Amino acid sequence: MSDKVIIFDTTLRDGEQSPGASMTKDEKVRIARQLERLKVDVIEAGFAASSEGDFQAISAVAAAVKDSIVCSLARANDKDITRASDALKAAKAKRIHAFLATSPLHMAVKLRMSPEEVLEQAKRSIRFARNLAEDIEFSAEDGYRSEIDFLSRVVEAVIKEGATTINIPDTVGYATPELYGEFIKALRTRVPNSDKAVWSVHCHNDLGMAVANSLAGVKIGGARQIECTINGLGERAGNTALEEIVMSLRTRKDYFDMVCGIDASQIVPASKLVSQITGFVVQPNKAVVGANAFAHASGIHQDGILKNRETYEIMRAEDVGWSTNKIVLGKLSGRNAFKQRLQELGITVEAEADLNEAFARFKALADQKAEIFDEDIIAIMSDSAAEEGEHYHFISLSQHSETGERPKSRVTFRMGEKEVSSEAEGNGPVDASLNAIEEIAKSGAEQLLYSVNAITSGTQSQGEVTVRLAKGGRIVNGVGTDPDIIAASAKAYLSALNKLHDPSQAKLNAQMTP
Ligand code: KIV
Ligand code: ZN
Repeated sequence: MSDKVIIFDTTLRDGEQSPGASMTKDEKVRIARQLERLKVDVIEAGFAASSEGDFQAISAVAAAVKDSIVCSLARANDKDITRASDALKAAKAKRIHAFLATSPLHMAVKLRMSPEEVLEQAKRSIRFARNLAEDIEFSAEDGYRSEIDFLSRVVEAVIKEGATTINIPDTVGYATPELYGEFIKALRTRVPNSDKAVWSVHCHNDLGMAVANSLAGVKIGGARQIECTINGLGERAGNTALEEIVMSLRTRKDYFDMVCGIDASQIVPASKLVSQITGFVVQPNKAVVGANAFAHASGIHQDGILKNRETYEIMRAEDVGWSTNKIVLGKLSGRNAFKQRLQELGITVEAEADLNEAFARFKALADQKAEIFDEDIIAIMSDSAAEEGEHYHFISLSQHSETGERPKSRVTFRMGEKEVSSEAEGNGPVDASLNAIEEIAKSGAEQLLYSVNAITSGTQSQGEVTVRLAKGGRIVNGVGTDPDIIAASAKAYLSALNKLHDPSQAKLNAQMTP
């Protein structure tokens, strides 16, 4: 029988460490629900000690998820581990994930600890964690650049203390597939009690080899857990992409001879949701989830596909959840049809008032746009979820621009309890609108990125705008959607300001000392 590979998703923790990808509690819960539908084995919901906001988000995910193990990251110290355990209280199945760096460079420069001190700290922390949970993961941060003798001693010791999963990260994406696979294999051979824990791989994508390295860790090294994120989201060049791992294991089962429990038909919905919430657009040529992943432009390919799909396709688009953009609803659709479509998309709306509010948004959009697609509904629900308790809220916009003239824009929005309006000029209508908002909000934030993406095809599509702002060492992304891209831009800017305004979102960096 084929071995099972555990899929550990860290979109909500390591993925969130991408600049600007920080998510609110509600956004994390929405993504966690989708990860549960995807049937991931473990959901790493965050890093409880990093901020009050993240603690609350992990607690909410722990309460919402029933079928996956919910996990929190913690530095290897009693305070962080207690915080992780407290955040996971409501979880049906919980995992505490403690990490400590073991490479010479990290120990000397970052931790300022001797190898013996690191060994003792690792043992102490796992002993402590074992009193709070049964399922304990230990990660040797920068494990791949660690000395194998020392790392073997640490791993043996933490397994003795009760660690049930041992994760060997390639924190900086330095590994190559064969070398990484051999490293994991050598470690497993050296550690006398290696069979008492599940071995896990966690690879970053700095050299574009994260997926290949993870698969080698499994195939050559004998690891049985892969840590990954939707769309490969993550710090710098990102993490191992879940969708590529899952489809590699499935498509090349002849070679890997391994199975995982993922429901692949939920991959594309998960990819779209993460992209919409974080504002990280998926590149068109991205494997499995890119818009072009199953598109055939060349005549020779099209001809081949028509004769026999397998001439140029190794996977089927429908197997990973691509549905040809179907028109789901329109102006005449009623509340029940809308509610049913939400259910089919796996979106739960608990309160009747929230459903009514979302339906009103749907009707307003259907007045502007004849055809409403699944992506539009997801965007409506993102907007509805965002509105609760937000400080800034878009109301309306009017703008005037004529060729050769400097455009003017007037934006009305809610700021706290007050409705405010402001007018400004700019280089273009978008610039004028953001200037008008800034005139009143006076955030002083630096704009790092502005991007527009059509969420479906054609000029009928809603524009999805991402604005990335930086202020006081924090970087946030705001996302806004609207058939009018100038309004979408104003919404995105206000959404980014809301994130800057929320102090509970200010996070401690996961790479800090224990
Ligand atoms: O990349 C890394 O080393 C990590 C650990 C904290 C698991 O994300
Ligand atoms: Zn990482």
